[in-house]
Amino acid sequence: MKILVINGPNINMLGIREPGIYGKNTFHDLLTLLEETAAELQIDVEQYQSNHEGDLVDKIQWAWGKVDGIVINPAAYTHTSVAILDALKAVAIPAVEVHISDVDAREPFRQISYAGMACCKTIKGHGLAGYREAIVYLDQLLNHKIG
Ligand code: DQA
Repeated sequence: MKILVINGPNINMLGIREPGIYGKNTFHDLLTLLEETAAELQIDVEQYQSNHEGDLVDKIQWAWGKVDGIVINPAAYTHTSVAILDALKAVAIPAVEVHISDVDAREPFRQISYAGMACCKTIKGHGLAGYREAIVYLDQLLNHKIG
């Protein structure tokens, strides 16, 4: 089982950017959490982060035929990118959308998610723990433990 975790722009700035919204944990802490989750579930978890929309589209296309599930936090591109939505629909790999903050409780422009329209689940406002939740969910879904 291979899960690809994709992070969009500024997620590499975790711990530095707006700690009142995103918390004090760093991007390195997120990578550690992903490694720990992979070891716990005995699955392969790959992480990819980019600040560039086209690179994110390229990585989603790359995933076709290579990964079983995608966890994606498109960050600001969540609210703007039809290209990321179309890439997720093109590969049709089960995908879960994660947001560290509770986007529903923030500015109105954060309450539209294009990528979310191609995802089977959205987890928001759970901090970094949301990534673990998303991986556990996909692991259970792909192992037919949940419908
Ligand atoms: C975010 C929420 C987005 O609105 C924002 O642009 C981000 C991070 C989150 O994880 O809470 O960069 O996706």
